[in-house]
Amino acid sequence: MDRRQSDTNFFDPAFLEDPFPLYEEIRAVGNVVWSEPLQGWVVVGYDEAVSVLTDSGNHFAILAGDPELTFWFEAPNMITVDGPYHHRLRAALAPLFTRNAVAKWERRVTQVVEQLLAPLVAGDDHFDLINDFTMLPTVIVADMLGVPEERYGDFRRWSHEVVTNLSFGFEDDETRAVLRRAATEINEYLREEMERHRREQPDDLLTYMLNLPSDKAMTDEEIRSTAVLLLIAGYDTTAKTMANCLIALERNPDQRRLAVEDPSLLPAAIEEGLRWFGAVQWLPRRALAETVLDGMEISAGENVYVMNSAANRDPRRWVQPDRFDVSREAKGHLAFGFGPHLCLGAPLARLETRIAIEQLLHVAPEYHLRDLDFGNSMFIRGPERGIVEVGMRASRQTPFAVRSPNG
Ligand code: HEM
Repeated sequence: MDRRQSDTNFFDPAFLEDPFPLYEEIRAVGNVVWSEPLQGWVVVGYDEAVSVLTDSGNHFAILAGDPELTFWFEAPNMITVDGPYHHRLRAALAPLFTRNAVAKWERRVTQVVEQLLAPLVAGDDHFDLINDFTMLPTVIVADMLGVPEERYGDFRRWSHEVVTNLSFGFEDDETRAVLRRAATEINEYLREEMERHRREQPDDLLTYMLNLPSDKAMTDEEIRSTAVLLLIAGYDTTAKTMANCLIALERNPDQRRLAVEDPSLLPAAIEEGLRWFGAVQWLPRRALAETVLDGMEISAGENVYVMNSAANRDPRRWVQPDRFDVSREAKGHLAFGFGPHLCLGAPLARLETRIAIEQLLHVAPEYHLRDLDFGNSMFIRGPERGIVEVGMRASRQTPFAVRSPNG
């Protein structure tokens, strides 16, 4: 069969502003389509996306494994490898990221959210979406790794510099220089921290990685690379997810009202927010062997970009996919990926997002977002600047309540 082809320009500012019409443009051509601008395959169909993502390195390799494209990692980590190597690196950390394991962070997450929202509770009528609110995920990853408070700001800057600039080989020289500088600074800092952790053995994730049993042991380079991965995988994605969920709720006031009136709907509302307006836009892979997908012959060596946010609106999978509906059974969405590389931090991201949004809705049930700026990251999409106006205040200004774990 001839290649189905699309010229849709992913580098157009219109894509950043609103990618969904462009995804439909591609879908009208097919579920698996050759993209001229990307010089690779784009997958917008749900079933096709799942079949690429569930492959564990037989037909498709994770593209981040190409050291040319992810040069900021100095060594392999779980997102750059497949098969048994991936299994070893992931299994070492997996017990710390289960839903039960992250529940112990509930109190700390609540405390940080309270601090961030304190000026609002005290009467401020607006605050900065990024500086004042979405700082949460950096603080939590930094705390997990045992990074002291005075380095939170550096941590956030490094993470942001890498994540917002990465585009898997489509960066210009200037952008590559920013990425290199951030990577050098993070790695230098982590070297110092690892020395301190070896001496002082504080009870945290870095010490845990240093002391793994021999069958799971990681080299120093793998530990640093994993710490960089956690930092960059855990900040921008979660910060933008929090902001995107706020956008979804504001644009759908009837749904927001439901969530305000019944906060037990919030976990479902967040899943629906992830499906409807997810942060991660594409999950890149490389074909290892000739493979047929939806009738298209993909050759070995060709890149395949799974457009998970487009698959999350595939009308073959979702009823009325463009509708944001907090009562929808949104489980099965691909916002956290799928298969062996499914997001390790999903339970933590869900916990952080739920608590942050719950507390914000508690103070400002009719908040209004303004001056949103989506920056220029086409990989992780969400506001990089914006203001939240409190609007009408909740009548019940009771103190925040810390809910029980898993609650
Ligand atoms: C809402 C926020 C988040 C979103 C939308 C998100 C999304 C994703 C996606 C889509 C993948 C799969 C990438 C692929 O298949 O190519 C992934 C992997 C990963 N994420 Fe997240 N993530 C989030 C938060 C976090 C957090 C908070 C952490 C940890 C602190 C984290 C750690 C990881 C790790 C370690 C991987 C690699 C897993 C592997 O390769 O086995 N993520 N994430």
